[in-house]
Amino acid sequence: MRFSVAMPEDLLIEFDQLVARRGLAKNRSEVIRDLVRDALVESKASVPGTQVMGTLTIAYDHHASALTDKLHAIQHDYFDNIVSTMHVHVDQHLCLEVIVLRGDTDLVQTIAHLIMGTKGVSNGKLVLTTTSITR
Ligand code: NI
Repeated sequence: MRFSVAMPEDLLIEFDQLVARRGLAKNRSEVIRDLVRDALVESKASVPGTQVMGTLTIAYDHHASALTDKLHAIQHDYFDNIVSTMHVHVDQHLCLEVIVLRGDTDLVQTIAHLIMGTKGVSNGKLVLTTTSITR
């Protein structure tokens, strides 16, 4: 389907810069479709009861008191919802973990906040996706 979109000139200029940054394979229509899909996924993933996949990225200093054990214990407590964990030793002190989760959106978010809220985890971000994405 085709439709027209009206927007302020300043916004359109910035949008075209975004389109350019996304590479030669992308045009305005492609980027608008991508943005709409992102918004739909985010909206669907926030509806209670929705099944989601999530990736949680965290960074922490493994010297912090018993932190590695605490993070390990949480992941064992929720083994049904934690699909996989990738651990990267960034340098002498810093660790990076990417944790893949699945399940009900509320539980996935609860587990992510439990992990991010553990003392010593310096930063973290959860990205959710639904298993029912319109292509
Ligand atoms: Ni490490």
